[in-house]
Amino acid sequence: MNFIVLTIFPEMFDAFWAHGIIRRAIDQEKIVTSTINIRDYASGRHQMTDDRPYGGGSGMVMKPEPLAAGIRAAKRRAPFAKSILLTPQGRKFNQHTAQQLASWEELILVCGRYEGVDGRISHEFIDYEISIGDYVLTGGELAAMVVIEAVTRLIPGILGGEDSAKKDSFSDGLLEHDHYTRPRNFEGEEVPEVLLSGHHQEIEQWRLGSSVMRTLLKRPDLLQKKKLGEQEIEILKKWYREIEKLLNLHHREH
Ligand code: ADE
Repeated sequence: MNFIVLTIFPEMFDAFWAHGIIRRAIDQEKIVTSTINIRDYASGRHQMTDDRPYGGGSGMVMKPEPLAAGIRAAKRRAPFAKSILLTPQGRKFNQHTAQQLASWEELILVCGRYEGVDGRISHEFIDYEISIGDYVLTGGELAAMVVIEAVTRLIPGILGGEDSAKKDSFSDGLLEHDHYTRPRNFEGEEVPEVLLSGHHQEIEQWRLGSSVMRTLLKRPDLLQKKKLGEQEIEILKKWYREIEKLLNLHHREH
């Protein structure tokens, strides 16, 4: 995968490329990364990349010429690339979008700044607009990093276990199960017994239960959307019966 980032702050990416899974993916030649400084394509003595909005109003708008020239330069490096503008007005990014993007060979990520980019750039030079959430950042740089990281970890061979990404939260519509590591007893709380049993099938069963209940408690909206399997329904029924028992007990006492 070839990621090309257009930004007026290319230095923000130096540390990002140099650590963790991004670094590993670069070293293993699974991804190629580069930045294009939009300012390099700005003209005039001050190489301005923004200007006042037509029609008045507060804030500045990113000028079209440097962005267009930068995107054209990126397209010369990556002729089949899709270009993505990071903006709070874009389609909300999620695991499904990450999976779709992971299937492409080349991506150009355009980081907007100021109040936005000139409308003619979004109309003519951008294939997709992506938002990482309903909040406003000062620029698209952090959003581009979020997208690059989420996509990179889906590339086969990047994560330890070959199917680690498949078990991630969201990839099957559920949150991931609880995790435990040593020590067995931490400040009085024990690791669930079944995880020490070595009984593979029971462990898988426990993990599914943990996954379903975590999702119910933390993200019930996900369960509403998901088509539940037989086992998942059984788990919910089991807990439902437990809660019913508790309520009955309580009822009798009052
Ligand atoms: N730029 C500013 N805010 C953003 C957001 N929420 N998502 C993507 N890009 C942005």
